[in-house]
Amino acid sequence: MKLWGGRFTKEENQLVHNFNESLSFDQRFYRQDIKGSMAHVTMLAKQGIVTEEDKEAILEGLEGILKDLDEGTLVFTREHEDIHSFVEAVLTQRIGEAGKRLHTGRSRNDQVALDMKLYCRDEIDQIQGLVKGLLEEILKIMEENLDTYMPGFTHLQKAQPVTLAHHMGAYFEMFWRDYQRLGDTRKRLNYCPLGSGALAGTTYPLDREYTADLLGFSGPTLNSMDSVSDRDYVIELLGALSTIAMHLSRFAEEVIIWNSNEYRFVELDDAYSTGSSIMPQKKNPDIAELVRAKTGRVYGALVSILTVMKGIPLAYDKDIQEDKELTFDAIDTVKGSLSLFTGMISTMTFNKQVMEESAKKGFTNATDAADYLVNHGVPFRDAHGIVGQLVLYCIERSMALDDLSLEEFQAVSPVFDNDIYEAISMKTCVERRTTVGAPGQEAMRKVILACRERIKEM
Ligand code: ARG
Repeated sequence: MKLWGGRFTKEENQLVHNFNESLSFDQRFYRQDIKGSMAHVTMLAKQGIVTEEDKEAILEGLEGILKDLDEGTLVFTREHEDIHSFVEAVLTQRIGEAGKRLHTGRSRNDQVALDMKLYCRDEIDQIQGLVKGLLEEILKIMEENLDTYMPGFTHLQKAQPVTLAHHMGAYFEMFWRDYQRLGDTRKRLNYCPLGSGALAGTTYPLDREYTADLLGFSGPTLNSMDSVSDRDYVIELLGALSTIAMHLSRFAEEVIIWNSNEYRFVELDDAYSTGSSIMPQKKNPDIAELVRAKTGRVYGALVSILTVMKGIPLAYDKDIQEDKELTFDAIDTVKGSLSLFTGMISTMTFNKQVMEESAKKGFTNATDAADYLVNHGVPFRDAHGIVGQLVLYCIERSMALDDLSLEEFQAVSPVFDNDIYEAISMKTCVERRTTVGAPGQEAMRKVILACRERIKEM
C-alpha cells in the first residue's frame, strides 16, 4: 500500500521496493514518530485545522499503536515503505476517516527530520549518562591513587614520574570534554523542523512555536528548506562519537600495554579477558582490543554521512535516508564500548609496586637531578650534560641514579651532596610539582575537588 499511489499507474517492482524502503531500519524510532504525530495533531486541533473529536480519536489511536508496538502485539509488515507510512496506515485501518487527517499540513520530509532529531536527542541523553558513569569510575581511581607513583611517558619512553591519579586525570579531562561536546550538539540541534512541510512550509495556519514547545525544543527552525535537508547535527553527533571512540581507543591501547607480560602494571579481571584455545598460559585483553577496533566503524559512519551530504542540492533528496543505519550503528557501538570499558576499568587491579619500580628504573628522575644542579648554581645546559654522563654510567652497570654512591656522583660533579638522594626520590620528584595541572598531591587534590563538582553539575 503506497501513500503516493494516486499519481502512479504501474505496481512498484519488488526490487525497487526493497531498495527504496526504510521501514526495516527506521522502525527503530517508532516512539519518536508517534510522539511527533501526537504533538502535531494537538496543534492542528488548537488551530482549528482538525476537530476536537478527530484529535481525540487520533490520539487514542496513536496511543494504542504505541502500546501494541511496545508489547510486540503489532508487528511491522514489509509492504510499508517507512515508519511514517506504517503508522498512518495502521491508524486509518483502526480509526477510519479521522486517521487520514493526521498528515494535514505535514510532509514525510519534515516528519523524518523531526523523528531523527528526537531520536538523536534521546540517544545523546543516554550516552551522556554512560560518559558520566565512566567519569565517576575514573575519578574513583584518581582519589585512591594520589601517591601511586608511575612513569609518565613521551614517545612511549619513560620520561618523568607521575602518579596514577594524574595519568587517570588526563582521561577525566578528555571524557569531560566529550560530555560537553554532546551537550553542545544537543543544544544546537534542539530546534523543531515540524511545520516545514515538504520544503516550503504550508498554507495551513500552523502554530510552530506551540509544536516546538510540546516536544521540548527551544523553538521552531527558521528556514523550511534547511529544516528538511539539514543533517549537520548528525555529523556533529558522529564527530562527538568519533572523538569518544578515539579517546576510548587510546585508553584501551594503554590498558593492553599495561596488561602485557612486559609491563604488568594492571591485571584485568577474568570476566573481562579471555583465554586461548591452544596456549594455556594466555589471558587476553579482548574487550580492550575490541573497543580499540570498533573505533573504525564509528569513524566510518562519520565519513559516510559527510560523503552522502556533500553533493546534494536543496532541499530534501532521498540520499538523506542514508543517514540512519550508519548513525544507529555508531550509537550502538559507542554505547556498547562505553559500558564495557567502564566495567573493565572498574574491575581491573593496579600493581602499584610494579609501577613504582618501573618509574625508578627508567631514569624518570633525571630531570630532577639536573634541576638539583641548577638550584646549586650550575647552568641548565651543563647540568643536562652532567646528568647525561651519569645516566650513561648507570646504563652500563644496570643501575638507577638512586643507586649511585655519593663518590660516584661527585666524580662527575663536585656540586652533588648528600641531599641529592632526597632530591631525586620519586616522592620528591612528584610532590615538588605543585602548579595547577601537575601531579603533586597538593595540586591533584584541588583538581579532584573540581572534578567532583563537574560531575555534580552533570
Ligand atoms: N524514509 C525517508 C527518509 O528516511 C522519509 C522521507 C521520505 N520522503 C520522500 N519524499 N520520499 O528520509
